[in-house]
Amino acid sequence: MDPDHESMKRAAAEAAVEMVEDGMIVGIGTGSTAAYAITALGEAVEAGLEITGVPTSDAARYRAKTAGITISDLDMVDGIDLAIDGADQACEGTLIKGGGGAHTRERIVDAAADQFIAIVDERKVVDQLDAPIPLEVLPAARHLVQAAVDDLGGTATVRTSGSTDGPAYTERGMLLIDADMGMIEDASAVAKELDTLPGVIDHGLFIGLADSLLVGTPDGVEREW
Ligand code: A5P
Repeated sequence: MDPDHESMKRAAAEAAVEMVEDGMIVGIGTGSTAAYAITALGEAVEAGLEITGVPTSDAARYRAKTAGITISDLDMVDGIDLAIDGADQACEGTLIKGGGGAHTRERIVDAAADQFIAIVDERKVVDQLDAPIPLEVLPAARHLVQAAVDDLGGTATVRTSGSTDGPAYTERGMLLIDADMGMIEDASAVAKELDTLPGVIDHGLFIGLADSLLVGTPDGVEREW
């Protein structure tokens, strides 16, 4: 754990939490940066803030409940006022998400929000996206999807889990395939291709979904867009 980057992640998360107002329905992101937001939200709730959280994963649900946040589900609320979520990489309005394998539900919650605030530390902001794109894949489609990613000029790697010494499974029992597409020149074109692959439930390219990107830097939090 790099303490400086942890401080930057926490600063971005806390800046996002400052935007939360009493009575809001809040989308609760997944991952280590979103975890700082959950902690800050929990502290605000303890101090009297009244919110309802809609988690983007079972992990986020557990963390939020533990922090004392009242939890609901997307189908139980009328809408989401503001969602706060991390990202693996960010460039000009586009995010790569899914490092924690939660991108399918993250997209649903983040897209449902009136405002989606993405939070990252400065390492995640790049001039051109090049991180592998996580795909949530039906196990039966594994070879089909790997071949399709190869045909698109990428390299597909089935994500493994250190704890089980086998494939990592999502909370829906699906596989995660990381599609390394090299430098991504045209994210929309890549997303369009991935959208059509049979067996892919969702991919981690989030184009134009985040209303703002808050970046933790050594000099404080900067708003990238
Ligand atoms: C979860 O599936 C992801 O989309 C996370 O939001 C993303 O991987 C960022 O995680 P960290 O904040 O832990 O880097």
